Amino acid sequence: MEGLADRIPPEAVQRLCESKRLVVLTGAGVSAESGVPTFRGKEGLWKNHRPEQLATPQAFEKDPELVWDWYHWRRNTVREASPNPAHYAIAELERKIPAFALVTQNVDGLHLRAGSEKVLEIHGDLHHARCSKCSDVVALEEQAGLVICELCGGHMRPNVVWFGENLDVRLLEEAFVASRASDFLIVAGTSNIVQPAASLAYEALGNDGYVLEINLDPTPLTGSASATVLGKAGEILGELVKMAWPEEH
Ligand code: OAD
Repeated sequence: MEGLADRIPPEAVQRLCESKRLVVLTGAGVSAESGVPTFRGKEGLWKNHRPEQLATPQAFEKDPELVWDWYHWRRNTVREASPNPAHYAIAELERKIPAFALVTQNVDGLHLRAGSEKVLEIHGDLHHARCSKCSDVVALEEQAGLVICELCGGHMRPNVVWFGENLDVRLLEEAFVASRASDFLIVAGTSNIVQPAASLAYEALGNDGYVLEINLDPTPLTGSASATVLGKAGEILGELVKMAWPEEH
């Protein structure tokens, strides 16, 4: 019977051991094993909720309480969750490779809780709110209801990127520069359809970087990636790190 190790190409293990500049791009699938719902697929959030009613500036303007409550519910789900082996394996990779960047589309903060330090949260984070008028950012504790800005009286909104909004230019630039310079890029648990994150792997490929995709199912990147391993991110990433540094496990 084929074991986990047989699914990981030896070339991927070799190139990872030798890597000097690693980028990891993650999506909702990396937090799935922590019990945090993904967006697409059978039980994804976008199956029962319309993004335009919950994740756009217009939705917040129309019904701020509805939007706030939905993010509050997501924040609580995440507070009750714990990082899984995928998050821990990625934190370990950061300690092994000299130049490292973790680019995440996730807003759950689980990478930071697993010990990752260099995290570019390009879609924002659930645990902060930002004033929709003056842009002041505050940490959210347990507040359930809408928060009013102490500086200007404006409505505080979740500090996440909504559909139709631009990403933080500085973070994005950092993500692109690191991907372009990387010799190895891991793309884990993302459907690879939301831009600009979906372009990062091609930046690495364009510069002869090795791109390893890890996902339960094939994605639009699969035909172009150097290798795709189908399986759970927690299992595959854990095994990959073990195979690359066997003496330490
Ligand atoms: P998606 O929900 O689109 O995709 C999750 C991917 O993870 C799918 O390709 C699944 O096959 C895969 N997957 C699920 N469980 C997995 C597991 N245990 N191990 C490995 N793979 C697994 O989530 P994202 O790609 O992150 O944006 O979505 C990108 C963006 O679209 C999100 O950041 C969000 C969403 O709309 C905004 O809200 C702006």
